[in-house]
Amino acid sequence: MASKKNLNVGMIGCGFMGRTHSNAFRKVGNFFDLEYQPVLKAVCARTQAKAEAFASQWGYESTETDWRKLVERKDIDLVEICTPNDSHREIAMAAAAAGKMIICEKPLARNSEEGLDMVKAVEQAGVANLVSYNYRRVPAVTMARQLIDEGKLGKIFHYRAVFLQDWTISKDLPQGGTALWRLDASVAGSGVTGDLLAHCIDTALWLNGSIDTVTAMTETFVKERKHNLTGQVEKVGIDDACAFLARFRNGSLATFESTRYARGHKALYVFEINGEHASIAWDLHDLHRLQYFDHRDEGILRGWRSIHVTDGEHPYMDKWWVPGLQIGYEHSFVHQAADFIEGISKGQPVSPTFREALETQQVCDAVLRSAANGTWEKIKA
Ligand SMILES: NC(=O)c1ccc[n+]([C@@H]2O[C@H](COP(=O)([O-])OP(=O)(O)OC[C@H]3O[C@@H](n4cnc5c(N)ncnc54)[C@H](O)[C@@H]3O)[C@@H](O)[C@H]2O)c1
Repeated sequence: MASKKNLNVGMIGCGFMGRTHSNAFRKVGNFFDLEYQPVLKAVCARTQAKAEAFASQWGYESTETDWRKLVERKDIDLVEICTPNDSHREIAMAAAAAGKMIICEKPLARNSEEGLDMVKAVEQAGVANLVSYNYRRVPAVTMARQLIDEGKLGKIFHYRAVFLQDWTISKDLPQGGTALWRLDASVAGSGVTGDLLAHCIDTALWLNGSIDTVTAMTETFVKERKHNLTGQVEKVGIDDACAFLARFRNGSLATFESTRYARGHKALYVFEINGEHASIAWDLHDLHRLQYFDHRDEGILRGWRSIHVTDGEHPYMDKWWVPGLQIGYEHSFVHQAADFIEGISKGQPVSPTFREALETQQVCDAVLRSAANGTWEKIKA
């Protein structure tokens, strides 16, 4: 086998996503036959102690405490943005200017204006770019796309998506700072809309095409929380819950709902699509299964099938174990890394690019506008 070229990775952020992406780059070369081998070159955290601890845990060769230095380093090919949303634009603009490839965590930015700047920067620099909407690369979700592309569902009438959590119900939970930046609107941009519904919207746009109009309602159940950085009780600016209706350009109707106040649910992401001939449904808690109903089946045998998406002919599964043995959440990031590296080899963009992810941002913005105005809102391109 020809020797592989190195792909030097610079990771910014050592939290949840820093771990999933580092894990993916460590594993991808073992399971996928790729032209480039990722090298964990440098990791950046805000303190030396954290950067060193992360580097030793995950095998990074060096550390930085200022992301600007990491971005400027000549020995970095790919910048990974795994920091909170308020830093995505600035880091991406600098990385693009330095000619680096970029993988940016979702949402692309806090709003479309920031997102558009990022799109322009990567397109002007001509650097490979990807936003980490990883659920597309869960094999059962990828397979849903294949079935739709093959026309198995026929004309699509309905799209339904829900993403539920329950971790912010306590009014004593503070906002802001490490781990709780998601409750601080100035950092996160929005609440469940940009955090959880952004995933649902990305999957929906990928499976069912563009959304034309939306009408939404949001609520902030706890109006004030102590801020971890200022120590003061401050107004809460995020949406705790959001529900919206949407009309897709293909004529189908949709409902989307997300909240962090659904007691008992930790990360319930489910979607269902109803077409003329068939329906499909997927549940993150059972992520290796795709539920499928086909009206064309013989009458007495007609019913929902639970497809265990683990056979070699299922998407990505020939790279893993043997049929019947399932994979999980972390593997969606391994698939993302593999697809990105393959894209570099072929000189082709890999979805969702910054430009594609901007559409998700535009839907989020329209949802928040509609909730504020009480009107139907058109998606602004
Ligand atoms: N794809 C997904 O399913 C998914 C899941 C969770 C989070 N995310 C996204 O990933 C991003 C990070 O979220 P997370 O859950 O990993 O957050 P986190 O709070 O667990 O980690 C963020 C890390 O960034 C570091 N950081 C903050 N500012 C920094 C700076 N200036 N320089 C260096 N490091 C800095 C923090 O110290 C922390 O280690 C967010 O944009 C979030 O929306 C995506």
